[in-house]
Amino acid sequence: MIPTSVQLKKLKSAAKAAAGRAYVPYSNFPVGAAVLTASGKIHSGCNVENASYGLSNCAERGAIFSAVAAGGQRLKCVVIYTPTKHATAPCGACRQVIHEFGPEVRVISFCAGREQLDVSLGALLPGAFGPQDLV
Ligand code: THU
Repeated sequence: MIPTSVQLKKLKSAAKAAAGRAYVPYSNFPVGAAVLTASGKIHSGCNVENASYGLSNCAERGAIFSAVAAGGQRLKCVVIYTPTKHATAPCGACRQVIHEFGPEVRVISFCAGREQLDVSLGALLPGAFGPQDLV
């Protein structure tokens, strides 16, 4: 679902600010994410790594879990920021988690360069397994 230009501006600014708070001593690859819920609220997250590497959590999932904890279970848009030359697509695990709460989500990824990714979740995760399969 397409955010308004005001919402997109706020989402981008929240994602960029969150990237600045990423805890990435191992990868040095900060990521920030912001999600827009159906009620119009914005929640952000950053990647948080751990000395036990496998426990690290991605920015997208941080933002989504924060939205769910605040009562926002229907996502409209996910915005990702990385301070890189090229825009970064969400990892497979995050695509699956996005699908749980927003199968119709629009994913926008921007970066320090001019490149921007703007794609539907359906294009990133076609034929997804989800809650609909468990009924
Ligand atoms: N990372 C994210 O936060 N989101 C993604 O979609 C891709 C990867 C993080 C995980 C790890 O902290 C770092 O980027 C390098 O993989």
